[in-house]
Amino acid sequence: MNMGGHALLIPLPFQGHINPLMQLAWKLVSHGFLVTFLNTDFNHNRIMQANTRNPIHNNWDGIRMVSIPDGLPPDDKRTNIPNLLQALDNSMAPSVIKSLIEEINEREEENKITGIIVDAMTCFGLKAVADFYQIPLFAFHASLVANCTIRYFIPRLVSIGTLAQDGAPKEEKKVRYIPSMPPLRSGDLPWLFGGEKMFKRCIQMGESIKQIKRVLTNSFYELEGPVVEELSREVEVYPIGPLIPGEFLEGVKRSPSKALPSFWADDVECLEWLDKQSTQSVIYVSFGSLAVWSQIQVEEFAAGLEAALRPFLWVVRSGLMEGGKPTIPPGFLEHVRERICIVSWAPQLQVLSHPCIACFVTHCGWNSVQESITMGVPMLCSPHFIDQFLNRTYIVDVWKIGLPLESNKDGIIEKGEIARAVDRLLVGEDGAEIRKHVTKLMRSSRDVVKEGGSSFNSYSKFLHQMKKQLLD
Ligand code: UDX
Repeated sequence: MNMGGHALLIPLPFQGHINPLMQLAWKLVSHGFLVTFLNTDFNHNRIMQANTRNPIHNNWDGIRMVSIPDGLPPDDKRTNIPNLLQALDNSMAPSVIKSLIEEINEREEENKITGIIVDAMTCFGLKAVADFYQIPLFAFHASLVANCTIRYFIPRLVSIGTLAQDGAPKEEKKVRYIPSMPPLRSGDLPWLFGGEKMFKRCIQMGESIKQIKRVLTNSFYELEGPVVEELSREVEVYPIGPLIPGEFLEGVKRSPSKALPSFWADDVECLEWLDKQSTQSVIYVSFGSLAVWSQIQVEEFAAGLEAALRPFLWVVRSGLMEGGKPTIPPGFLEHVRERICIVSWAPQLQVLSHPCIACFVTHCGWNSVQESITMGVPMLCSPHFIDQFLNRTYIVDVWKIGLPLESNKDGIIEKGEIARAVDRLLVGEDGAEIRKHVTKLMRSSRDVVKEGGSSFNSYSKFLHQMKKQLLD
């Protein structure tokens, strides 16, 4: 019998959800657990193909990588998030997970599944399965506790009339929806993307967490203490972030000791390019794994970066541009040849921890934000959907570690706005204050995972719950 037990981890099939759960998997392995990590077939194949340089095997040093179909046809691009989530409701239904556990338990008398951690946005109804096997079950919420909390309280917000029945905000002005959270703009609500399907899923998520009663979050107490306290009056909350490879929390530039479960191969040549730049000179531009841009926005960004007169590293991922193929404006590359590096996928942690990075132009995906905080890099915010507008509000209004990139009336961020914001952040007085704040949060993010820190303590309590029945 494995001393720590055997944990089954089930992520949502997106890069931003798989990355932190995989880090949790490694932590569990280091605490004596055997881990089975369940991906969709589609993502499993992508991860294997992207990591040919450092091959990942089905048994990845104690993590068993297994997969099942996601229910969509092979040629589906899986970019319609609500549709993919709906398909998963069948392909990862509780009965499917129960069969998987049964199969593992029958095959391995000595290594039966002893605990489950499931992404909070999927596999609703798993509590009955965990109860059947009498094993602990934790929901895993991949972003801010604030995002989890506002979704959790949707029924209350509807019943008091702050939200319409369909989740639409009643007020256009800023409203303090949750007492422990800052006032939010109507567009900050995380269910507004994805229509009715997404709104219903957010309600289901709240109901599921209420049933499971325990939620792990990839955040830390010092970032959002009041809202952690508020949600803790309803369910047990375990903020255990930042879930980032330990070597990047130790304060020196490092390479990851283990390959990351990326969907695309890292273009590591950009690190050599970065080595040739001056300290804190480079603008890093990346929009995560899902955002899609219009051609006009790309053109404005290219012109804005050109006008900012600084070196920049730009991730132009396949699928970033509407309609498929990236179309960088003609002439642009010649104008900026001396100070540009374009890659299709960056080793982001290594990039952000590089001393030559000055700031991060980000879509505000939660992992990117937390990675930026952990490396002490200030941000320019261009959110796209789901929780990213809420994350921007925390970055700009609460923590004061970045500036917004404001859109015009057509929703486009113009080149002048980009160049102005870069200047304000990198040479203005505002920028100096912002850097002070982000440096303070960086220190905090590294302290919380050390012995006695808030995330260390939360993780220890979670570990105790995961091992309890093995010790009884
Ligand atoms: C999505 C949502 O956008 C986000 O709002 C939600 O909180 C999680 O799911 P994504 O858009 O992929 O995630 O953004 P993000 O959360 O930032 O995750 C992207 C991950 O990919 C990060 O861990 C980042 O380090 C990594 N990455 C990104 C790379 O390794 N290389 C790149 O070039 C870009």
